[in-house]
Amino acid sequence: MTTPTTREACADLDAADPLAPLREEFVLPEGTIYLDGNSLGPLPRAARERVRRMVDEEWGQGLIRSWNDAGWFDKPAVLGERVAPVIGAEPSSVVVCDSTSINLFKVFTAALALRPGRKVVVAERGSFPTDLYMMEGATGLLDGYQRRLIGDGGPSLDEALDDEVAVVVLSHVDYRTGALHDMAAVTERIQRHGALVVWDLCHSAGALPIHLARCNADFAVGCTYKYLNGGPGSPAFVYVAPRHQDAARQPLSGWHGHADPFAFASDYQPATGIDRFRCGTPQLLSYAPLEEALELWRHVDLDAVRAKSVRMTSLFVDLVDRQCTGFGVEVASPRDPDARGSQVALRHESSYPVMQALIDRNAIGDFRAPDLMRFGFTPLYLRYVDVWDAVVVLRDVLSSEVWRSERYATRDAVT
Ligand SMILES: Cc1ncc(COP(=O)(O)O)c(C=O)c1O
Repeated sequence: MTTPTTREACADLDAADPLAPLREEFVLPEGTIYLDGNSLGPLPRAARERVRRMVDEEWGQGLIRSWNDAGWFDKPAVLGERVAPVIGAEPSSVVVCDSTSINLFKVFTAALALRPGRKVVVAERGSFPTDLYMMEGATGLLDGYQRRLIGDGGPSLDEALDDEVAVVVLSHVDYRTGALHDMAAVTERIQRHGALVVWDLCHSAGALPIHLARCNADFAVGCTYKYLNGGPGSPAFVYVAPRHQDAARQPLSGWHGHADPFAFASDYQPATGIDRFRCGTPQLLSYAPLEEALELWRHVDLDAVRAKSVRMTSLFVDLVDRQCTGFGVEVASPRDPDARGSQVALRHESSYPVMQALIDRNAIGDFRAPDLMRFGFTPLYLRYVDVWDAVVVLRDVLSSEVWRSERYATRDAVT
């Protein structure tokens, strides 16, 4: 695969891109190069009308009747069925509800109970912090658990695994560098030791093909507001392998996970199947845009998404190598596209102000402490010319040193 060396050659790739028509399905501000769909996906056009309908008709006119007439009660299950093919899950193994943090707490605790007697949990030191925090919260309620952190100078996964390990929590794609685990091989290694694995799919769902069932994964969680474009704060998903569903008991035993919520019984009896991973009343207004976003995914070929993603991240890395050397930037993501998700991270000692200067010029990525700029490549709406233009802006910001301006120095609350 040759890398285009001119903007015209990038435009030729766009003209031949089978995914190109999907860009029209999104609202993208004129002149903006949006490289942060790995943090918050853009607005799908159809979502506006869906939100209006839910507000004006289902809520405004239908009122309480909409729980039945508009299918509100079943939304977590219905949307779970739509997420399932995107992550290679079996039917009836996914439910959409709550946040990734909350869902991680549920599955992690359920998994611990499936491995009584084992008292060690394993995670990566560089995990997205909420995963570590939720694990800490869960084991803090129980007696005698010990945590082993792997990577970032600590032991490797293989060194950490033994017959005391109950559960391993891993991010399929690293939120900082974009490093991608081989899900099938890693799952097999963990299970060989009798442990269970929980995959965090926040940075891979919608970014590349995932085969939870084929990989024999135990549990998975992930958000829908990044590559799946469900909107700010859209509900997360939770996957439980069918073989665990009868035995897995999650601790947040709210009434929507009850076998018969409207019996109003005083004792908890979990629903059968994945429904027991629900908790309380779903945040229904957040389901409306997600519903339309997932409708788009029905028609998307994830192999085509991956092929374009690999080509885009490789193009970005090549262009940065060619045009931005000598300005103190270094590629922090794996250079092998097979070992990388759909983002590229660059390291620079002043990454924060450099990123602010980029954003000021409408090339939007984000910053992750201490020194990373992240650029997400989302094949549904990004063009190859966007990759080209982003590197032109980056080179300009670096070579002019405009990032040294005072106004880029102050850190906002959200970076
Ligand atoms: C890997 C990973 N896990 C979890 C989360 C966040 O979870 P929540 O939606 O509960 O805030 C993120 C958010 O960026 C993430 O990147």
